[in-house]
Amino acid sequence: MAVFPQLRLRRLRRSAPLRALIRENRVDVGDLIYPMFIAEGRGLKQEITSMPGIFRYSPDQLSREIEEVASLKIPAVLLFGIPEDKDETGSSAYRPEGVIPQAIRAIKKSAPEMLVITDVCLCEYTSHGHCGIVVNGQVDNDRTLPLLAKMAILHVAAGADIVAPSDMMDGRVKAVREVLDEKGFQHIPILSYAAKYASAYYGPFREAAGSVPQFGDRRAYQMDPPNVREALREVEQDIAEGADIIMVKPALAYLDVIRQVRDTFNYPLAAYNVSGEYAMVKAAAQRGWLDEQSVVLETLTAIKRAGADIILTYHAKDAARWLRIT
Ligand code: PBG
Ligand code: ZN
Repeated sequence: MAVFPQLRLRRLRRSAPLRALIRENRVDVGDLIYPMFIAEGRGLKQEITSMPGIFRYSPDQLSREIEEVASLKIPAVLLFGIPEDKDETGSSAYRPEGVIPQAIRAIKKSAPEMLVITDVCLCEYTSHGHCGIVVNGQVDNDRTLPLLAKMAILHVAAGADIVAPSDMMDGRVKAVREVLDEKGFQHIPILSYAAKYASAYYGPFREAAGSVPQFGDRRAYQMDPPNVREALREVEQDIAEGADIIMVKPALAYLDVIRQVRDTFNYPLAAYNVSGEYAMVKAAAQRGWLDEQSVVLETLTAIKRAGADIILTYHAKDAARWLRIT
């Protein structure tokens, strides 16, 4: 093996074209999914305080934003619904004329090619803010499953291309797959939030969606942050139940989890660069404490280097622009 002075690792760093030639990982706009908040009502476009640049849109206000996302060549959006009425069982989540079916139809009208992915979970729709049905102060796993399945069917019937269950109930992928197949939607993939941690980085999202749990927290269903072997078991289960794409969430504090999942399973792997990760960068950039463009592109590249194929990120529109010019 050559060593210094014959070997000089700096040789391949001398110019931009050389660096480009030996680059190991790249972010491509085709890897990105843009998450969007859809609020029930009309004429709404409200910026989310803790997520500058991210808005809640009502379905009738979506067309311009969707056309912009499409023109940037971002292939997919992920939709979160914020209903006007919340109740104990999250019944607005499975109303055929609910906010998400309306949004899907509006998006398909403005950008028929856009992949529409829907988040399937009850927490934005329940008055208590938990991801399932609460019985005696606990989220009841098995009573929640049929409601998630019902929600998934409704989204797909309205035109969703992929469904993404994010509730962390056991058996939810199986429940959703079974009902999709039964109703003739064998071709619709499931993107499962397989290793989803009980993370403080979801704070801004909960403000955006009004889904802060009214009692307790989500630790009895989302994963405990110190665990990684358990994440592999979660992923294994979801694959066994029929997941087509698996996800690790959040991304930055869990890059080791992304790497281990990548090395263990041959499935397309997504990572969710969550609301708190976005808010931190925005807050520092607004104060001029760091260079937003460089930090975002470095971060997205790190998520790819850890092993993700797909990145869900609120930075998607900016990143798409910056990737064109860098
Ligand atoms: C709903 C859901 C959450 C996120 C995605 N789907 C919130 C939560 O679990 O509390 C978080 C996304 C983000 O922080 O950007 N279950
Ligand atoms: Zn939830």
